[in-house]
Amino acid sequence: MRKLKLFGTLQIPGDKALSHRALIFASFSKGINHIEGLSPAQDCQNTANCMRQLGLEITAANGAGNKSYTSISINSPGIKHLSVPRGTLFVGNSGTTIRLISGLLAGQSFTSHFDGDESIRKRPMTRVLEHLETMGAQVNYNEEKGLAPFAISGGQLTGSEFTLKVSSAQVQTALLLAGLQANGRTTVHLPGIARDHTVRFFDYLGISFENNPVKEAYTSVSVEKLKEPVKPFQYRIPGDISSAAFFMVAAACLPGSKLLLTDIGINAGRNLVINVLKRMGADITLLNEHIIANEPIADIQISSSDRLMGTNIANEEVASGVDEIPVLALAGALCDGTFTVSGAEEMRHKESDRLKLITDNLKAAGADITESKDGFTIVGKKNIAGGSPWKTAMDHRLAMSGLIANLLFDNPLEIEETDSTAISYPTFARDLGSLVC
Ligand code: S3P
Repeated sequence: MRKLKLFGTLQIPGDKALSHRALIFASFSKGINHIEGLSPAQDCQNTANCMRQLGLEITAANGAGNKSYTSISINSPGIKHLSVPRGTLFVGNSGTTIRLISGLLAGQSFTSHFDGDESIRKRPMTRVLEHLETMGAQVNYNEEKGLAPFAISGGQLTGSEFTLKVSSAQVQTALLLAGLQANGRTTVHLPGIARDHTVRFFDYLGISFENNPVKEAYTSVSVEKLKEPVKPFQYRIPGDISSAAFFMVAAACLPGSKLLLTDIGINAGRNLVINVLKRMGADITLLNEHIIANEPIADIQISSSDRLMGTNIANEEVASGVDEIPVLALAGALCDGTFTVSGAEEMRHKESDRLKLITDNLKAAGADITESKDGFTIVGKKNIAGGSPWKTAMDHRLAMSGLIANLLFDNPLEIEETDSTAISYPTFARDLGSLVC
């Protein structure tokens, strides 16, 4: 391990999942909404651009127009008066954008065309679209069934009941957005706990739903057709725990580190990174815990401890940290003992096949890692040589994991690219650099 440490205080940019929801859910209101702390991620800019095509006016709070900003106002014409998009809704790299807006537009009586980048064109869309078809939407695939590009002709939807195979908050949210425009009741059952941002947000907006809570999260949610527009709202977005995770792993592994990450969302459906690092022996304290807009928030203080211990990430935990497992694997590579992940087949369907890439990259760097169908096992080592290629496949979380691995391993890595970090965290490299000493 190189003799670096992370030290200081950092305000992590706004949460990506909540930013998408704020931009999309505003379409159910009529009037001007105010959002503070919007994520500057390219993914969220793609959502904003799609919503603009649907007639929402999104401007920086200071009137700066179409630039990168964090405080915005959204003037929405209301869900019954969305514009027919003139061209294709281009979602870039963003799975949340394409899936959530598909659910939204399944309820609209026009045809919407969706497309995205090379990675989006490989990601499974059937998991949402087949259910929207059951509710009455028509889906036409341009090239291959189940994949983007596709078109949705929506309109008269009928509520239905769905039991999902994967605990996916994206799919759940897409179906609930369609359900808010459908006749009758729509119920979505999740097989386990996932982030419950959507129901917390619905509650904040006064949208009625029924749920069957299990341990603070929700496994079954039902909605009915929304009768009145949502009142214009103000919403403050906390820092993104998925972005914080990179700094947390680095600080936990680098001796002498001490970080304070302020104002971070700590939703119980996303706290795997906190739980796993604590189990491994990291020194983590949550300070100033409070609730804003129904979401739990805290400052996260994290210091390095002696060498981290191994742990096992079990099937039922995966959904609470599916985006954080790539960077947690770095802590696993350096742990004292064995670090295993199982039940994470879903990681193969993210922006890249993350199980394969993390295994290939860590193996090349000298870690003792074995890939399985739905996870991997790492026998930790005190030092990892590095000095090897680090593939990213333009996956932002792989690129950021590479930049963290670069601090932890003995020799600099040849990281394929780091431009993709802008997909979720445009200033990641600069922010990391400001803490390294
Ligand atoms: C997200 C949910 C997760 C996550 C994605 C964002 C969301 O996907 O991986 O980055 O905003 O709901 P799944 O719910 O499909 O696992």
